[in-house]
Amino acid sequence: MTRVIRLIVNGTSHEVEIPTYRTLLDCLRYDLGLTGSKEGCGVGVCGACTVLLDGKMISSCIALAVFADGHAVTTVEGLAEDERLHPVQQAFMDAGGFQCGICTPGQVVSAKALLDAIPNPSDAQIREWMVGNLCRCTGYYKIVESIRAAAERSRA
Ligand code: FES
Ligand code: FES
Repeated sequence: MTRVIRLIVNGTSHEVEIPTYRTLLDCLRYDLGLTGSKEGCGVGVCGACTVLLDGKMISSCIALAVFADGHAVTTVEGLAEDERLHPVQQAFMDAGGFQCGICTPGQVVSAKALLDAIPNPSDAQIREWMVGNLCRCTGYYKIVESIRAAAERSRA
């Protein structure tokens, strides 16, 4: 069974016909060609697939695309403006928060959501907010440092 849905992704409206079981992550990646959001665990645990739905973080691997019908989705591709990196992206580059291509997109989207909600977070708030974004191989120190730098940059 298929259904036509309309998604506003990074400010652009798309109409797509999809099977009703299609996840939002698969719809973004395979129907719309937005491959920035990654599938890590596929079961809502790792945060690699994090996108914003009407500004709120969700794991797009466990969200059905039909539930996003008519809503605004922001992916990592939608953060830069006029070819200028979002302050979070720039800070991740400057402070060494960029790690692998699987976990980083989700880390960046979650960090943006954090700074939208709490513009000047403490380190404890950063660590608590980012608890759903896992890295299996390196560490979290540079990520926390990057988010702190992004917050400082936004205040400057
Ligand atoms: Fe969605 Fe891991 S891929 S939470
Ligand atoms: Fe991406 Fe560890 S999972 S650097």
